[in-house]
Amino acid sequence: MAEKSRIGVTGLAVMGANLARNIASRGVAVAVHNRTTAKTEQFMAEHGSEGDFTATESVEDFVNALERPRRIIVMVKAGKPVDAVIEELTPLLDQGDIIIDAGNSHFPDTVRRTAECEANGIRFMGVGVSGGEEGALLGPSIMPGGDPEAYAEVEEIFTAISAKVDDTPCCVHVGPGGAGHYVKMVHNGIEYADIQLIAEAYDLLTHVAGLDAPAIGKIFEEWNTGDLESFLIEITGKVLAKTDEKTGRPLVDVIVDQAEQKGTGRWTSQDALDLGVPLTGITEAVFARTLSSLRDERKAASTTLAGPSPAQKADEQLVDDIRQALYASKVVAYAQGFAQMRAASIENDWDLKLGDMATIWRGGCIIRAQFLNRIRDAYAEHPDLDNLLMVPYFTEAVATAQDAWRRVVTVATEQGVAIPAFSSSLSYYDGYRRERGPANLIQGLRDYFGAHTYRRIDAEGAFHTRWAQDGSEVQTG
Ligand code: 6PG
Repeated sequence: MAEKSRIGVTGLAVMGANLARNIASRGVAVAVHNRTTAKTEQFMAEHGSEGDFTATESVEDFVNALERPRRIIVMVKAGKPVDAVIEELTPLLDQGDIIIDAGNSHFPDTVRRTAECEANGIRFMGVGVSGGEEGALLGPSIMPGGDPEAYAEVEEIFTAISAKVDDTPCCVHVGPGGAGHYVKMVHNGIEYADIQLIAEAYDLLTHVAGLDAPAIGKIFEEWNTGDLESFLIEITGKVLAKTDEKTGRPLVDVIVDQAEQKGTGRWTSQDALDLGVPLTGITEAVFARTLSSLRDERKAASTTLAGPSPAQKADEQLVDDIRQALYASKVVAYAQGFAQMRAASIENDWDLKLGDMATIWRGGCIIRAQFLNRIRDAYAEHPDLDNLLMVPYFTEAVATAQDAWRRVVTVATEQGVAIPAFSSSLSYYDGYRRERGPANLIQGLRDYFGAHTYRRIDAEGAFHTRWAQDGSEVQTG
């Protein structure tokens, strides 16, 4: 009988296939399986010689091909397909075997699946994997969640296949239960904010500075050598530089301006609402994609709704102002995303080490960036930090950028260019740095129409004023 494989991968679409190849490339024997056997055959034909693969047809064969405790990576579409695979595997597994969901599952599903598997003696891990196809093959950022003892069984393989930055693996056990998928969800939310900010900068450079796509591509290439250095800024330069073979125009100019989404950004915002965390950058990014999808309505509105007369002013200052506004808004988006992870960690008792999250996002993943080193340093010094903006490095970075940031928001508003992420980030900043905001009036109004009570600055307790009666104040609590 053939040697058993150390790990199995079921689901051989490109992400699963590339993860399996990555694992095998480290000298680990991998059993592979797919619901439709043709895909397994195709995988073996194309990659079978790259490593020690055992191709299996039935789920039974797949399970039998694995050493124990069985380690099974499931890489199928999030949602029902994950439950279907678990259901098929469960009766065939033994106590202590490990099912690893490495897709973009919604974390409440992971919490539920963990409990369901536990009831059957199976250890379930929800693992975030970022880096797209290439990352999966060459080294992704991995965010494993679940039982630490189950993690110990796969740690060696996971750290071996992950990206490395300064010899540090971009893989660390994030926390129990749904923590791994939660952190991956916030990663994706931040990815949405980053992308939206880049799109707003592109819009301003196009419609206010009057530059064409290749010229803007060069600006991004240049920006990638400074504070903004990151994978997304780098590929923006490349995408903008690309010429369409069919028309000879910049390819971006012939791509339809409707952004799609698979749900992770929306989940991040929904959870922020549940937690009561202000998450304006990511949420505006989600809404901007939604607005972009109303293409027919926008077409009608474009000839009906009035805007200011465009006045282009291309100057050097504007381009650098946009760079600074992008950086400051990015700092806010990350500050909000990390504040959300902190709130979720407290709420769910996950004990997330936020510095570790910054560390494992430095390489392999879509939001990998130089700037994450600064975030890592910030949490190394202040593990219980409420808000990244309060760390001297970021306080100063935003203070330096704020005049440019305000000029950009002003010029965009004057010229009718929508910048939801730039402007909401600035409003968040201005709201957060105010000792006293206008919510006193909100409380007064709530008390007027609904006797919802308010607190006073000069006394403990809850108060209600009989606004429309005799105007007297009563203490209610
Ligand atoms: C990653 C990416 C990956 C995927 C996004 C795209 O980290 O590798 O985030 O997970 O590209 O889910 O999300 P949308 O389709 O919602 O933009």
